[in-house]
Amino acid sequence: MKKIVVLISGRGSNLEAICKSGLSKHIECIISNNPNAKGLDFAKIYKTPSAIINSKLINNKELFEKQLIAVIDGFTPDLIVLAGFMKILSPEFIKYYQHKIINIHPSLLPAFKGKQAQLDAYNAKVKVSGATIHLVDELVDNGAIIAQGVVDISKCCDDSEVANNILELEHVLYPFVIKQFIQGKINFANGVVQSQVQASDFEELGELKQHIFI
Ligand code: GRF
Repeated sequence: MKKIVVLISGRGSNLEAICKSGLSKHIECIISNNPNAKGLDFAKIYKTPSAIINSKLINNKELFEKQLIAVIDGFTPDLIVLAGFMKILSPEFIKYYQHKIINIHPSLLPAFKGKQAQLDAYNAKVKVSGATIHLVDELVDNGAIIAQGVVDISKCCDDSEVANNILELEHVLYPFVIKQFIQGKINFANGVVQSQVQASDFEELGELKQHIFI
């Protein structure tokens, strides 16, 4: 059975969606760099081990990552899932887990990188935005694109409406992609994304299948 570790920093709504979709049995550990992350509640709810490595108490990045590696390696995961993890990881860390770390970003990358992707999309008056799941490499919001979900934001009145609409799709996209990985239908072990996801696999998404691209 494939094993995953999820890294969070805050709310954890993507983590909740992943757990709710039946994937919690694959989660070996939920790790937060923030002891007050609301997302840690889901470790209790879904009876998943959790760990806190308080980045505020360890103001040395190397030491912080050393501790993170010690915890992660204890679980030998096949996949490390960043779900609202707000620490930028060093190139050394990323190299250590090469082609094993994925992230979700609330825009159609490579457009609107950075922390205010939804606001930037709103201000740019683009008609569609969405979410991207990508392999993590040493550049921020970069790395091979695994999947994207497209959202109509043409009628949104402000950036929070944009964010909410995208988040709703994230909650479908992230579990779906992780599930395909677990089932061996998506592979990126050599850094190149290969997908054997079939049209029939999208059926479970109902109407949303038209918005998701792998
Ligand atoms: C999401 O918008 C995700 O795209 C971004 O951080 C946010 C995390 O939200 N990387 P949550 O903690 O999963 O609710």
